[in-house]
Parts: sequence; C-alpha cells; structure tokens
Amino acid sequence: MKYGYFDDQKREYVITQPETPLPWINYLGCQAYFGIISNTAGGYSFYRDARLRRITRYRYNNAPYDVGGRYVYLRDDGSGEFWSPSWQPTRNKLEEYSCRHGMGYTTIASKYRGIEASTRYFVPLDENLEIWQLSVTNHRPQAAELSVFSVIEFCLWDAQDDSTNFQRNFSIGQVEMEDGVIYHKTEYRERRDHFAFFACSEKIAGYDTQREAFLGPYRGWDNPAGVERGQLSNSVAHGWAPVGSHHVKLSLKPGECRQIIFVLGYQENPQDQKFDPPDSQIINKKAVKAVIAKYRVAANACGAFEKLRLYWNELLGLCQVDTPDVHTNRMVNIWNAYQCMATFNMSRSASFYESGIGRGLGFRDSNQDLLGFVHMVPGRARERILDLAATQLPTGGAYHQYQPLTKRGNDDVGSGFNDDPHWLIIGVGAYLKETGDWSLLDEPVPYDNEPGSETPLYEHLQRSFHYTLERLGPHGLPLIGRADWNDCLNLNCFSESPGQSFQTTTNKDGKVAESVFIAGLFVLAGRELADIAKHRGLGSEACSYLAEVARMDTTIREHGWDGEWFLRAYDDFSRKIGSKENAEGKIFIETQGFCTLAGVGLEDGLAERALESTRKLLATEHGIVLQQPAYSKYYLEYGEISSYPPGYKENAGIFCHNNPWVIIGETRVGNGDAAHDYYTRINPSAREEISEVHRCEPYVYAQMIAGRDAPTYGEAKNSWLTGTAAWNYYAITQWILGIRTSYEGLLIAPVIPKGWRGFKVSRKFRGVTYEIEVKRAGEGNKVCLEVNGAPVQGSLVPLPPAGTKSVAVKATLH
Ligand code: GLC
Ligand code: GLC
Repeated sequence: MKYGYFDDQKREYVITQPETPLPWINYLGCQAYFGIISNTAGGYSFYRDARLRRITRYRYNNAPYDVGGRYVYLRDDGSGEFWSPSWQPTRNKLEEYSCRHGMGYTTIASKYRGIEASTRYFVPLDENLEIWQLSVTNHRPQAAELSVFSVIEFCLWDAQDDSTNFQRNFSIGQVEMEDGVIYHKTEYRERRDHFAFFACSEKIAGYDTQREAFLGPYRGWDNPAGVERGQLSNSVAHGWAPVGSHHVKLSLKPGECRQIIFVLGYQENPQDQKFDPPDSQIINKKAVKAVIAKYRVAANACGAFEKLRLYWNELLGLCQVDTPDVHTNRMVNIWNAYQCMATFNMSRSASFYESGIGRGLGFRDSNQDLLGFVHMVPGRARERILDLAATQLPTGGAYHQYQPLTKRGNDDVGSGFNDDPHWLIIGVGAYLKETGDWSLLDEPVPYDNEPGSETPLYEHLQRSFHYTLERLGPHGLPLIGRADWNDCLNLNCFSESPGQSFQTTTNKDGKVAESVFIAGLFVLAGRELADIAKHRGLGSEACSYLAEVARMDTTIREHGWDGEWFLRAYDDFSRKIGSKENAEGKIFIETQGFCTLAGVGLEDGLAERALESTRKLLATEHGIVLQQPAYSKYYLEYGEISSYPPGYKENAGIFCHNNPWVIIGETRVGNGDAAHDYYTRINPSAREEISEVHRCEPYVYAQMIAGRDAPTYGEAKNSWLTGTAAWNYYAITQWILGIRTSYEGLLIAPVIPKGWRGFKVSRKFRGVTYEIEVKRAGEGNKVCLEVNGAPVQGSLVPLPPAGTKSVAVKATLH
C-alpha cells in the first residue's frame, strides 16, 4: 500500500493522505539555520546546533507522535468554524490534501469547505530564517470572511535544559512586540547575544505571545481558545511559555487568492551592540528590520525560493545516471544524494528519532558520511575533515563525538572506540580521490583542539594507523576497546547495573577482546595510507604500511576465519564470537562485508565463501540481518547487542548501514546480479509499495529494518540520519555502476546485473564533465574503453589537459 507517489520531474515525494504510518519528514535549511518538518507541519527549527540553539520547542515521543510545529489555523468568521490546512493539529476531514516534500522545502496544500490553502516552507540560502508562504484561495461562489492565525512555541534555547529545568524556566521567558513583529529574547538580558523574531507580511488584527493565553486553560493545539473566539488577547509573555501567534483578517471575493508570508528568524548581535538605545533593555533590531522588510514582499520570497531550486539543481546535477532501473535512477539522482546532504548537515543529531539533544557529530559517522557528499560540497568536506581531525587525541585515538557549535570533543562520551581513527584515513582518502587537492595533507591541525599541538594533517593519519599497531591483542588482531563500528558489541563493559551506558562503562582492562572487523578496516585504511604515502614520494613508508597490511591479512586468515565465514571477534576470555562454535550469534554481517570489500580472501576463494554463507544464513527478502541466530538473552560479556529483543537494531535487525559492505563485496567477486539484488531489497523507493509494512518514508533510507526474528519483520525505524545513506550511494555509484574516483583519476569498472544492456552517467569530476556510456557486449565485467573516440588501455580515464570542459567515455563490457 502507498501513501503517495514520486514526482521525479519536480524532485518531490507527494504524500496524498495525512495519516501516514509514521510522521514522514523533510529538512529545511542547508547551511546554518535548519528545521525538520513533517507531512502535517510538525517539527522545529534551530540554528547550527539542535541542542544549544533550539529556536522552537518540540516534544518528542508525544501522543499523537507528532504535535507541535509550524501551524496555521484558518477560521471562517461567518460560521466560527476553524481548521488546520496542514491537517494537524485540528485533524478536520479535509476535502483535498497533499504534502510535497522537495529539495529543501515542503509544501502542504489542502481544501476545506471551498477554501484552498497552500503553505510553502523553506529556508533561503545565506539567511538565518525560514519563510512560510501561505496562499489562500476562495473557491466558494460567495465572499469569504476569514481569519488566519499563525503559531509557534519558542524553546528557551538549550533544548535539554528547556525540557527539564522548569523551576527556573517558568520564570525567565521574555518577549518584545514591535510593529507586529514578535521578538523572543529569553536570557538576552544576561549572557545571550541572540534572539528570534517572527514576522508577518500583513497588518495584524492581534497577537499572543503567552501560550496559556493563546490556548486557554486545559486546551491543546487542536482547540486554541484564541482561534475559537476569533480574537487573540495581545498577551505579552512574562515567564511561563512564550509563543508567537499573529492574527490576520482576510476578505476574499469568489475566486480570489491572497498570499501571506510569515518569517521566523534567528539573529546574533555583537555583545556591545545588544541594546538600542545602548543603556536600555530593548533589543537592537537594526540588522533584522531590513531582512524582515525584504521577505515580507512576495517577489523577494519567490526569488529566494528560485535560488534555492537552482542550488539543488546544481548539486544534484553533478552526478546523474540513467539505468534500466527506475529505483536506482530516482535514488541516485534525487533522494539518496539529498539524504547524504542531510547526514552531512545533521550527522546523527536531529531527526524524528534523534532528539537533537543526545548526540553531537560522530567521528566515525561523519568521516563515513564524506563518502556520500564529498563530490557535492568538497569545500565543506575539507572543513569537516579539519574539524574532525582537530578532535583527534595525541595517541591517534579520537573523541567519539563533538558538538558542532563549539567544535570540541565531547567529554561525556570520551574516546577509546578503537575503529575511530581509521575512518579519518577513509574520509581523507575519499576527499583526495575526488578533488586531487593534496594541499589538505599539509594543513596544520591540532590534537584535542590544543593550540600549539598542530602537525600537518598527514601526521594525524600516521598516528591513526599506528594507534592500532600499538593495540594488538593475544591473536595479533586489533583490540576492540569500548566498541568498533558496532557500538553495541561491548566486550569490556560487563555491566550489571540498569541504566549504565554500555558504551562508556568499562569493567575490564581491554587487553584481551579483539575485533576482526577492525582488522578488515585496518587492511582497507592501510592500503589507502600506502597510496597516499606513495603520492607524497614516501615510497619506503608506503612499503612499510603494505607490509603491516599483509601481516594483518595473514592474521585474519589464521585467527579470523571460521571455516565458512569470517569470525567477528574474540571476547574478554579469548573465546570466539561469530563462530559455528557459538550457540547464538554464529555469523555476523560486518566481517563478511568489510573483509571482502577490503579485498581479504579475493585470491583464494575465502571472500566468495564468506559471501555464500552470508546469502545462506543472513540474507532475507527485506535485507541482510546483522547476525544469526539472534541473542535470546542478555550476555554480560557481549553488552548492548544482547540487550535488544531479537530482530531489532544490532541484535539481528537488518542494520542497513552494513548491507552495502556486502554489496561492494559482491562486486569485488564480480557478482553484479547479487550486488544489485541486495541493493534493491533495502532501496526505499523499491519498498514504496509495501509502505504499510515498511512504515518509514519511502524516499530515504532508515537505519534499521526489523529482522526476521522480530514480530514486526520488515518494519523500518530511524529514518534519515544513518551511514546507510553514504554507503549505499557509494556502493551503487562507485562499485555497481563502477564510476569510481581514484588518486589517478576516474575509473570505469561497472559490475552490473547480467540482464542490463547498459547505462549512462553524467559525472562532474575535478571540474570536468564526463559523459559516460556503458554497453554490454558480453556477460562479464571486462571493460574496453574509448575516450573521446580513441581506445584506451585499462579502466582508468586519463586526466584530460587543463581547461577541458567535457570528456566522452564509451565503455563496452565483455
Ligand atoms: C549507529 C551509530 C554508528 C554505529 C552504528 C552501529 O548508527 O551512529 O556510529 O556504527 O549505530 O552500532
Ligand atoms: C545505541 C544504538 C546504536 C548507536 C549507539 C550510539 O547503542 O543501539 O545503534 O550507535 O547507541 O551511541
């Protein structure tokens, strides 16, 4: 069953009924001002940091799930009836409804009793504000006397404190009203230099800024007293809960359409210019007045929207594919790339499942995210790499997370996740291959943000590599530390106290438990580093890296192979995990995927056997589960993985992030059919038809789909912010379609299904547009290349002379 459809021409997903199984959301903003918005206008906004600069309030895990947002009410002043054109919060039975989630904007339109209302929400480029463009059309045969009400609820900035510290917060709320604009200035009197403003293009008939006055006692958003009365009370909030609501009266002739614009924004003032006059307590509004005046004018709002549209056209235009599979095309050309930008902006901080409070930017997560967005925003990727590297510790280890506002490592979570340092090498490698900008490696970058500790970035990579060599366990495999990629395999935790963090509790000295996953990651990262070293003219250093990689490869074969598949780890008693000897958790996906993608066992058939075992034991119709059999009880020595009921999350859920590792592994053994089949099983567009099972948005990947051990098998959770976005984008574009960046240039190495006749790709790479056409002449994966009409040996397209604008590539597969 579907709840809407894809409009690929417009790059939109159109939801045609408001009662989706879960709120289906979109993101507004792509630079500093952000918001999440659901298909019924729920959600909130923040500036840069979803925890520390929350602009509007939102209550997670609400009932219904999603209430509170960017609401508009319409009231028929003749009958007194009122409704929400976005369905929520009043939930009247609308005659028509659609929500168009597009690239950086959402338009919700509906019709009720002959009144059509459509609101387009977006954040203009280079501005710290959002615009709601509301059009109201009267389709009745007679005139309509309407009232329009806007409403948002302000958050008192720190979202964590806002939802806990009521003894203080009920007494600190402050606002100002001026020229019909509502200014939220809680804590501006003391140390904050920022405030929010909420303006309207029309002359207003009233306002409210105190929630209780707007709603009336014992009422909710579905039934506000002010809207019911048709008259707000011009309340000025002192303490309690500041809100912003405007009232606009509207007389529409039959057929008449009017537009009203609301602007909600964030502004910082220099500390010495906070007040105007300077010795007063009144906000200095100079900077915002011009901005408000600008966007009150419809033509300017439309102009800003047009710029946003061009921005996305340009970004998505950098890589466009035309394959025989509509789901591949749609995801690569539109939604998967778009989701990669969302994970770049948000990491794992703010979604419908991430409260914006718990997590900053993950070191491991953000480095992997680079794989999916580096070709779109290389300049910002460069900045991200430098920020991440600056939170690395002198040991080569890394803070697991940092706050985007301060760019400092997060002390609460700390470090000791022994896979972390290698992801920096992977991220830097992706950037260098994409851009050829080798100067990055010479950038001075501190450790732990400590001034004076700077070394060239290259040394950070060296320390990452050595970090593992200095932490090998009894079998010569890397020690796992607090956890590797799987945050829930906590082999040094041994926690018996409810509520203790599995990731930060350590009751063991960490000298025994080893990770075969980190070993595979080490092989991949070590080869990358060797390539980088070669390019820097450090031939013997490169050789020493390759020698260590070869040694690790041998260790994996000796101590990390279980006979039919790769082992997962050794626990604190040096017992195997992910082995046929185990009663539960006999085989794990991570090592089958990562070792094969890193090339371990390609020559001697181990890779193929591991992939066969994966197909036999882990693959399901909804994707590949993380391990089997699921853990049926809590294992003290394994930690959080066994805390989840079977089939969910890391305990045998389909953890979509690691499916593309197997997909890439399949391409490495030349199996394009299997690779694309796995790709399709978790492709959200290909799952659209079963939306009642999948339940999450059909246009973006979710972190998890419940595995076959779960009663809700096939149900997705935690959509949007997941490494799944980058890895799938990388797997389909660079490994299945095989348009792969390398240090030397662009490689053409497709491993596509046998049934495909070919495909086309237009890819901008280092300033040159490559128009690539691939045709199948035989069933294999051997490539014959023709570049600008001339045959070329091998699969590398030679870098063209400077100034070249475009290159035509024809590849034939034999
Ligand atoms: C979450 C984390 C990621 C981790 C994964 C597996 O997605 O963000 O860092 O690798 O879970 O535990
Ligand atoms: C929990 C989740 C895991 C996530 C981690 C982040 O352990 O199960 O997916 O990576 O939290 O801290």
